[in-house]
Amino acid sequence: MLIDDTHAMTIYRIAPSILSADFARLGEEVRNVVAAGADMIHFDVMDNHYVPNLTIGPLVCEAIRPHVQVPIDVHLMVKPVDRIIPDFAKAGANLISFHPEGSEHIDRSLQLIRDCGCKAGLVFNPATPLQVLENVMDKLDLILLMSVNPGFGGQSFIPHTLKKIAAVRRLIDESGRDILLQVDGGVKIDNIAEIARAGADTFVAGSAIFGKPDYTAVINAMRAALATV
Ligand code: DX5
Ligand code: ZN
Repeated sequence: MLIDDTHAMTIYRIAPSILSADFARLGEEVRNVVAAGADMIHFDVMDNHYVPNLTIGPLVCEAIRPHVQVPIDVHLMVKPVDRIIPDFAKAGANLISFHPEGSEHIDRSLQLIRDCGCKAGLVFNPATPLQVLENVMDKLDLILLMSVNPGFGGQSFIPHTLKKIAAVRRLIDESGRDILLQVDGGVKIDNIAEIARAGADTFVAGSAIFGKPDYTAVINAMRAALATV
């Protein structure tokens, strides 16, 4: 039997960033956003060193873990990364990604994440070159492209990221590996389709979702936009 998979449907995933959630009601916030259709929870970790802001750590990851069944996707904006990786794995993270600038030994840090039983990702800032990917594709489950400079929610999408998304899409397709292509920063209902057309399949959105009164309405509108791709 001939199977034509050239037109296989891309599975799109929406990963709300709790950076824009109400931290005083975090358990309720993550339950509500999952009930609204979130595919994973994006967990932004900032250290006031690698990025100029300070957010949440493993204790908060552990606290929300019992509230949701979906994967917790930990985005480390910290330097160094190795010491904190096992703590997040123990706190229930499913996926851990870090910026190459945050590790002296990228291959070792990726292996450490996998040894801890998590999926591993590498994150590229808007101006960070992609060369490092040549040597680590076999250790990656996710590539995250920042479409803003990391450190804050609510910034505007940087348009030249679209070219970079297309370049990474080609690299992933050429590798034949099962690697998610995630985009983070300024993702909204009105640009998500364009970002998907460039090649992304996983979308982080903070202020577009948690800043709004009806999470279901936003996520449904994002899925409707993605259905046009
Ligand atoms: C920025 C964070 C993002 C941020 C996205 O450093 O990594 O995850 O929360 O927020 P929005 O969607 O508001 O740009
Ligand atoms: Zn993030």
